[in-house]
Amino acid sequence: MAYEFPVGVGLGFRVAMAREFLERRPDEVVFIEVHPENYVGRGGLYRSNLARALERYPALTHGLTLGFGSTERFDPDYLRALRDFVREVDAPWHSDHLCFGGSGGAYVHDLLPIPFTEESVRTAVARLTEMRDVLDRPVAFENLSYYVPLSEDPLDEARFCMEVLERADARLMLDVNNVYVNSRNFGFDPRAWIDLVPPERVVQMHVAGHLVRHDGLRIDTHGEPVPDGVYELLDYTLRRIGPRPVLLERDNDIPTLDELLAEVRRLTDVFRTATT
Ligand SMILES: [Fe+2]
Repeated sequence: MAYEFPVGVGLGFRVAMAREFLERRPDEVVFIEVHPENYVGRGGLYRSNLARALERYPALTHGLTLGFGSTERFDPDYLRALRDFVREVDAPWHSDHLCFGGSGGAYVHDLLPIPFTEESVRTAVARLTEMRDVLDRPVAFENLSYYVPLSEDPLDEARFCMEVLERADARLMLDVNNVYVNSRNFGFDPRAWIDLVPPERVVQMHVAGHLVRHDGLRIDTHGEPVPDGVYELLDYTLRRIGPRPVLLERDNDIPTLDELLAEVRRLTDVFRTATT
């Protein structure tokens, strides 16, 4: 891969910490990531915050609502608005999830998994191709965390992702925390999942924290600090894939900016050790 974008550790730009973040403009953050759904068709404080952030940081765009597993048509007006937004932010690629989020006009605002079938591959390939054509730049999908077994062999999820990746000639937004969460919930070696990934297709990585329920089930909440196991898997992944932009996602129970920056610094240490 040869896209012009700084590698290192970035932070998801969220309204809850925007004010302090924009005042301090922390140097340890190399880039930001934004959700287009928060900005498209919107003005006011959201837009002015974004404009100020873009003066200082390069940005990546990451969608939440156009899952590549959906069988519904894209809204052409929204897709064009998304194209304009991605251009405005000057993101070198755009990502969304390999999931669906609703059906028949009803949406659950969640990232629901899709079966690992040939039909699902064809659906995802068609949607990835259509979005890439409209956006006129590379499109990446993110691997999911999910909570009910969808196959006897949990590595079938990785094989399914790689099939979509190759047939759509797409890019992977590799969520390391999601691989880790699934590996603990379904009992497989997360490094075996990572080993199936073609490094040249990975454009970006995510890390986050997750909740460990009293019965041991891990839930991808983005509401906890990144646990040691995810740092270790990130180290393994960076050594195998190579340096990429690594984003810290925090969406719930957002702590102080100082706490987030301490995590960014620890991730940066892992990044440097693994990639130099
Ligand atoms: Fe993610």
